[in-house]
This record gives sequence, C-alpha cells and structure tokens, in this order.
Amino acid sequence: MNILFVGDIFGSAGRKIVREHIGHVRKAHEVDLVVINAENAAGGFGLTPQLAEDLFDLGADVLTTGNHVWDKRELIDYMNSAPSDSGTRPRRVLRPANLQPGLPGHGVYEGTTQGGVDYAVIDLMGRVFMSGANDPFHFINDLLAGIKAKVIVVDFHAEATSEKVAMGWHLDGRVTAVLGTHTHVPTADERVLPGGTAYQTDVGMSGPYDSVIGVETDLVLRKFLTSMPGKFEAAKGNPKMCAALVACDPLTGRASAIQRIMLGE
Ligand SMILES: [Fe+2]
Ligand SMILES: [Fe+2]
Repeated sequence: MNILFVGDIFGSAGRKIVREHIGHVRKAHEVDLVVINAENAAGGFGLTPQLAEDLFDLGADVLTTGNHVWDKRELIDYMNSAPSDSGTRPRRVLRPANLQPGLPGHGVYEGTTQGGVDYAVIDLMGRVFMSGANDPFHFINDLLAGIKAKVIVVDFHAEATSEKVAMGWHLDGRVTAVLGTHTHVPTADERVLPGGTAYQTDVGMSGPYDSVIGVETDLVLRKFLTSMPGKFEAAKGNPKMCAALVACDPLTGRASAIQRIMLGE
C-alpha cells in the first residue's frame, strides 16, 4: 500500500503546483491514501472551506494543519458542520490533536481506503519554540491506545529537529510514518527506522521557493534589517511540490520504504 503525504501548501503558488503534479504522482505510484498539510493554503495563513473542498476534489483523503489552523475563522464553522463520527469532508480536516481540551475540531481521523484498509491520520504539534500544545509524547501514547487501525500516519508539526527526531524514535514500531511539517524546509533524512516506521524530519512546503519559507523575500528581509513591523505576503516564484511517498504492509502497518519528492514547473 502506498501513502502520499504532501507538505504544507503555501498560497496560490503552492496550490497551483500541487494541482499540476498530484494527479500523475498518484497514478504513477498507485497511491492508496493521500494526506495533505494545508495550514498555509490560504495566502500563507490558514485554510478556507472552499480551498479544503478543492483539495478533496484533487484526491486528498485527509487534510492536516498546525499552528495556523485558526487563521481563517470560517474553517471552524466548516469543521463544526460535520458529526464527530462521520466520514464527511469537514470531519477529515484536522487540527493538532494535543491542543487544549474542548476546542473545535478533531486531531485524529480514522477511515478506510477504497481498497478496504483501515487507517488513522493523526495531527500532532510540538512544543519546542512553539506555544499552544500539550506534551505530545504522553498525549500520543494515550491516543494510540484507542486506535485499532494498523496503518497510522502522524503529521508532527514542530519547529525543532531534535523534538521531531525524538518523536520518530518514540513512535518507531508503533505507527506507519512520522512525517514532519511546519519549517517549510525539506530535510534529507528520510529513512525507515528499525521498527518499521517511515520518518522524515520535515517534508518541506509545497509553495514558492524563491521566498523566505513562503513569504516575499523583500518583506522578510526588511523586517530582519529594520525590526519594523510589516505585512507579510505570499511569494510566487519557483514553486515546488514537496512530498513523501511511503510504502507499507497494509496488514501490519509497517513501512518498507520512504521516498522524498520535490517537483517543480
Ligand atoms: Fe506551515
Ligand atoms: Fe506551522
């Protein structure tokens, strides 16, 4: 079974490059499950219901997010429009699971592929150099105890490489893949850990790489040079789709291979 995980879609350039490539990648690699991190799809900040629908139309099964999940308020109504136990599209948009209790939305989606394989996708957020999340290490221990699917994909949305690498080892042999998001910079450390968990510290953004992690270079440089506040805008140049392809045994959930993908124009 093959899983395609697409890194943070950033703005219109990211949406366009994913639209160009996702179809042929899905076909060429006989992809069974598509997970996309869409936290920056709306101009770099958040996700709208319409953009979520567009990504589902492109074949996404589950959309993950991160610290930008609340940037577009209308996404909350969209998430709330789905019953908890449904498989509808709004229910398949996730926010980090380990936020404060009682917030809107869900951090886990459990579903079944068209081929009949049960799977779970978990959106988890780190705490090093990030605020708003509870201890992801203990949280996921409790979470995994209640999940029956063997095929489990974890989007670990975190800043620090150390926290992400540690999470990979923490979950090795217990989940199919731990794939990092949030930094928008792909790392070259993709591997299958000894217990059978595919791991990559950061999948990288799907967005404009002539930028500073998605934002117009001039605007970010001006901020670093002057420390003056300024509005950030999504860049457009040199778009790439960054993703990871994971092959796994659907019966055990153990990964056998992970491949890093970066596709441009
Ligand atoms: Fe992001
Ligand atoms: Fe993020």
